[in-house]
Amino acid sequence: MEVCTTADGLRRHVAGLRARCGRIAFVPTMGNLHAGHLRLVERARDHADAVIASIYVNPLQFGPHEDFAAYPRTPVADREQLDAGGCDLLFLPADEEVYPRGKAAQTFVEVPGLSDILCGEIRPGHFRGVTTVVNRLFNLVAPDVAFFGKKDYQQWLLIRLMVADLAMPVEVVGVETERAPDGLALSSRNAYLTAAERRVAPRLFAVLGALKDQTEHDGVVSPQALQQARMALEADGFRVDYLTVRRRADLALPVPADADLVVLAAAWLGRARLIDNVELVLAPGG
Ligand code: PAJ
Repeated sequence: MEVCTTADGLRRHVAGLRARCGRIAFVPTMGNLHAGHLRLVERARDHADAVIASIYVNPLQFGPHEDFAAYPRTPVADREQLDAGGCDLLFLPADEEVYPRGKAAQTFVEVPGLSDILCGEIRPGHFRGVTTVVNRLFNLVAPDVAFFGKKDYQQWLLIRLMVADLAMPVEVVGVETERAPDGLALSSRNAYLTAAERRVAPRLFAVLGALKDQTEHDGVVSPQALQQARMALEADGFRVDYLTVRRRADLALPVPADADLVVLAAAWLGRARLIDNVELVLAPGG
């Protein structure tokens, strides 16, 4: 695996790959890689002739009181895992390579509306930071296809909308959430959980799954079922940022005609903010 730390070096390597390979896939990450990230690399391998990954803890997507400084950084282990996973090229830039004029001066990209709800409402500016960095990375890498995890459902939808709105020539593929055997969605932030919290954490997925089953059974989104699910999480010690059922297309509140829905939640357990989601389908006329 080649490793590039500069934007110029990346462009040169990408040009070389492009001359040799048909289809180039891209997997952007913030590092501290786990099996969820590696699943994206594996899917990228299946879809393309060459795989490029990036590791960059993007300061623009962290709020002033968030965990930018504490975010786990494990570049040596990450490189080994990417190499073993069949990644061809890793972009590991310093801040100056991503934001040459400084992050405050950086031209930004923002998807209006969707950036301001759910995680965007609680973390103002977060999604602008995400779409801005992904746009720049897409321009540097110029991939044919890029892979994103559906664990970050709102992020995945925002990237698809950005690509469509800006007519970017990139296919965006969503990959199912990789979970621990007990159901907990893998996340770099799970490292913030104490041993006792780690035992409780899978309850988030269990509660979302129960809400999905009940909603599919009832055929409607019931405020009582939502309230019960929220209370179940609170009883387990979660501090719930949101727990909601939305339609998949735009994460708006569903109207009766909507069938393709998703249950989304963000909740704190100790120092860790966990997010998860489960898709569901309402039967017609249900
Ligand atoms: P990061 O949290 O490192 O995640 C990188 C990619 O891995 C994202 O597409 C994310 O959805 C995916 N991912 C994380 N956990 C996963 C899991 N358990 N199963 C499947 N996929 C999973 O998301 C970011 O970084 C950043 O916002 C980024 C897009 C790199 C922009 O800075």
